[in-house]
Amino acid sequence: MNARSRHFLGALALLLFTGPPSAVAQGRTATPAGPTEPTFTRDVLPIFQVSCQGCHRSGTSAPMSLVTYEEARPWGRAIKQKIMAREMPPWFSSKSVGEYADDPSLTDTQIATITKWVDNGAPRGNPDDAPAPMAWPSSGWQLGEPDLVLTSPPVQVAAIAGDAFPEVEVVTGLTEDRYLRSIEILPENDPVVHHLVIFTVGGDGAAPSEASDDQRCAGGAGCSKLANLAKGGSPDTFADGTSRLLRKGSSIRFQFHLHANGKNLVERTRVGFRFYPKGYVPKNLLVAKAISSGVRTLVIPPGVADYQSIFTFKLEREVVLVDYQPHMHYRGKRMTLDAILPSGQIQALSDIDRFTQNWQVNYVYKNPPTLPAGTVLRVTSYHDNSAANKVNPDPTAVVTWGERSVDEMAIAHIDYYETSPLTPKSPDRR
Ligand code: HEC
Repeated sequence: MNARSRHFLGALALLLFTGPPSAVAQGRTATPAGPTEPTFTRDVLPIFQVSCQGCHRSGTSAPMSLVTYEEARPWGRAIKQKIMAREMPPWFSSKSVGEYADDPSLTDTQIATITKWVDNGAPRGNPDDAPAPMAWPSSGWQLGEPDLVLTSPPVQVAAIAGDAFPEVEVVTGLTEDRYLRSIEILPENDPVVHHLVIFTVGGDGAAPSEASDDQRCAGGAGCSKLANLAKGGSPDTFADGTSRLLRKGSSIRFQFHLHANGKNLVERTRVGFRFYPKGYVPKNLLVAKAISSGVRTLVIPPGVADYQSIFTFKLEREVVLVDYQPHMHYRGKRMTLDAILPSGQIQALSDIDRFTQNWQVNYVYKNPPTLPAGTVLRVTSYHDNSAANKVNPDPTAVVTWGERSVDEMAIAHIDYYETSPLTPKSPDRR
């Protein structure tokens, strides 16, 4: 389960229990009893509660709160623009492929409702129409005190600087293997942490690996992705009986992507782990796999708007695919994931057709597909190195693989578990 899942599932559950108007999911334009024009309290607020407030409330990294009328009202025009462009909420999947557990995206009806509300001068409406406020965690650990808290070594962030990608490591101090129930990441200076990937490295006394780019680290032996904090993130809680393993003697590697924000800062990010009880062995152990185009094959010519790479990964055993997270940089524009089944039939799993490097979204499947042994996972990435790509730093450059955002990558991060694991304690050895 990824960061956002908690917010949106939590939001939904809360709404179901507090009994807001039944029109929550769809928005609505009119009722026989009331005026026909949408109002904040009756029509807009229920949508904000489900799709926006998980990030837009006080104490989070989003620029403004959308909890009360007074807070939301001045942002009307910006809201209209962002939702019509489908830039907010941040969700970049095609509507026609894949169903996700925590899809916050707005329906056409919801967009029309909010747009009309803004065009009509953003009226408040009857306060009695408002649904009960959401009970968001105020701050700090959202799931309560973790069993183990590790703090990254201090990382300097200069007031004015280009994007920085420092990596630091800290030992877990674990003297026995522990299975994780949840992971929560708390940056000290939220706005400067653009995103952060956390890996487990080594273990069983092995020296921490020297892996330095996210492909090697996510795929290499003894180094496996644990969690990814994107903007607006919150805890990862694994489904019952599903887990990741933190080995005794392992270290945690913090792979930062930092944005300077005008102040000299020292970032110390905390990561909190909650464990399954000692002795409990979860049935499903998640395996993190990075499927990638490979360092040598990615050579994107200048000006090309639709550079495609196809790369594959064959499943040796039957697995359940839990989530999918495309990773590219400024030129990345789309990444699809298909399963080529042993029968030859092709099953489209995901199509992230409006990829933006600004958001590292993990797409968690609503009905995780079971894929038989022999299935080939096929990833197709699309890069746009033309001048029409508004975030392209240099359309005249030949772009190759590299860690800087001005270089490129094409990686599909997936998490899966095997339906009949051979050796549950060694998920990375296959
Ligand atoms: C996953 C977290 C998240 C969700 C969900 C989300 N936002 Fe945002 N929003 C942000 C962040 C962070 C920014 C800051 C700009 C950026 O980084 O893109 C932002 C920026 C914005 C802006 C631009 C503000 C400015 O400074 O001009 C608007 C408007 C906005 N969001 C509206 C919404 C609305 C409306 C929703 C729900 C329909 C929503 N957002 C859902 C995180 C979120």
